[in-house]
Amino acid sequence: MMGELDGKIVALTGGSKGIGRASVELFAMEGATIAMCGRTKEPLDQAADELREKHGVKVLPVIADIMDRHSVDTFTNQVGEKFGRIDILVNNAGESEQHKSDKIVRPVLSEDPVGAEDLPPSRFADMDEAEFQLAFDRKFFGMLRVTQAALPWLRKSEAGSIVNVTSTKGIQPGPRIATSAIAWAACMNWTQGLSLELGPENIRINIVSVGGIVTPNLMNAYERWGKGISEEEYFRPRTQNVPLQRLGTAEEVANAIYFLASPRGAYVSGQCIATDGGGVRVI
Ligand SMILES: NC(=O)c1ccc[n+]([C@@H]2O[C@H](COP(=O)([O-])OP(=O)(O)OC[C@H]3O[C@@H](n4cnc5c(N)ncnc54)[C@H](OP(=O)(O)O)[C@@H]3O)[C@@H](O)[C@H]2O)c1
Repeated sequence: MMGELDGKIVALTGGSKGIGRASVELFAMEGATIAMCGRTKEPLDQAADELREKHGVKVLPVIADIMDRHSVDTFTNQVGEKFGRIDILVNNAGESEQHKSDKIVRPVLSEDPVGAEDLPPSRFADMDEAEFQLAFDRKFFGMLRVTQAALPWLRKSEAGSIVNVTSTKGIQPGPRIATSAIAWAACMNWTQGLSLELGPENIRINIVSVGGIVTPNLMNAYERWGKGISEEEYFRPRTQNVPLQRLGTAEEVANAIYFLASPRGAYVSGQCIATDGGGVRVI
């Protein structure tokens, strides 16, 4: 059976789990060749085996860390040398951590009301510059490194497409400074600026910004910060001010990524689809 992406080469960071894993499933279902990276071998190889077996597509799993320039170059060059070009790049890999020292009892979200009584007090005065630098290194420079390394190979595509996965916190800051939110905002400004530069080369670049999505990333946060309370209680602040009143799924985010990445979004560039149950009210 013909797939919509037969013959297309997809490179995606963070394909072993969560949003990345759900996205490569969709791309593979439509016949694309998949190259994906992550830092841990076993889950990456397992995901690659599952994709090959289920969809009969070529899959190249590469151990690479987006924090390391050399590692990123190795990933993109392996993809390019093996398949000749990259048609679709998805910058998805990432992780966040909350600093124990700030006594956070739960994350502060873009949907949280300003001044709510149960929010932890402000902490900007105590924040370390290194915390900001780490957030920028992980998120903004992570994307920048991978995109620069992939660009020579994207230029070999007839119609290149890049999708950057960010958080809605970067659009609408929560009522308390979060370093990740500031770094995500940089990612989004950079994406829109780059769409101007890459458009004339027929390379599109767009954003999928997410709210609370059930993935290993989110569940790890619950394990760490939700001790003694139920999952429902822990996640309630993430859902109570969201019109759809629930967290999202990785598959729902993958659908938005697929639309922007694939020829279905052929006339869309420099845009952001918030996949957050309606949490951020910006048109
Ligand atoms: N889930 C949410 O609610 C949420 C909210 C806002 C933003 N996001 C963002 O959405 C993206 C995907 O999140 P997710 O929830 O799907 O995360 P996840 O379930 O933790 O999966 C992350 C994937 O990225 C890989 N990865 C992490 N750090 C990496 C690095 N430095 N280099 C290469 N690969 C790396 C992981 O594999 P290894 O660990 O083996 O490297 C894994 O495959 C992330 O950028 C995250 O910050 C998610």
